[in-house]
Amino acid sequence: MKEKISVLFTEEQIAKRVSELGAQVTESLSGREICVLGLMKGSLVFMSDLIRKIPLDLTIHLVRVTSSREQAKGRVQTEIVYSTAVPLEGKDVLLVDDIVDTGITLSYLLAHIHEHGPRSLKVCALIDKPEARKIDVHPDWTAFSVHEPAADRFLVGYGLDWMERFRGLPYIGTIPRPARAGASQE
Ligand code: IMP
Ligand code: MG
Repeated sequence: MKEKISVLFTEEQIAKRVSELGAQVTESLSGREICVLGLMKGSLVFMSDLIRKIPLDLTIHLVRVTSSREQAKGRVQTEIVYSTAVPLEGKDVLLVDDIVDTGITLSYLLAHIHEHGPRSLKVCALIDKPEARKIDVHPDWTAFSVHEPAADRFLVGYGLDWMERFRGLPYIGTIPRPARAGASQE
């Protein structure tokens, strides 16, 4: 499978964007104590690079969400399956997401976090696929926006997986899009 991966963003391009985003987040949230909430597992690599470009007081936390499509009912079931104990009330929360595709995962998480009464809530995403959106939700910062035809391919590497594979690649590449129906995502 590895030989079918075409490189979309190189290690150097990613490092440059992560530095730029780190600077923007730092400027926007300077003076705050940030609670960085990473969406597992896809944003782990991105989050670990990003926090080293944000020279502010911060703590890190993790949350894991799964979505499964109930084909018969034609709806998506989303639930939080793991979360580190996060006291979000009154905190400046930076949610770090891997890919915003349909927006279902992100909108679900945003609603959940808002219930805990954070002082502010911002979203930093590695990849935005705006054309795939089913729910109108937008990250505050995005490293890369991916448009057609690349949006129609499946992205792997730099934390992103296909069937749990390829997370360790230092670049972001694409593979032909696998069947989506009934797929479980995280
Ligand atoms: P959404 O709820 O449809 O926005 O899905 C977002 C989640 O789907 C991401 O957090 C990823 O785990 C997964 N996902 C969507 N597109 C891709 C892709 O191209 N490669 C890897 N994971 C993807
Ligand atoms: Mg995934």
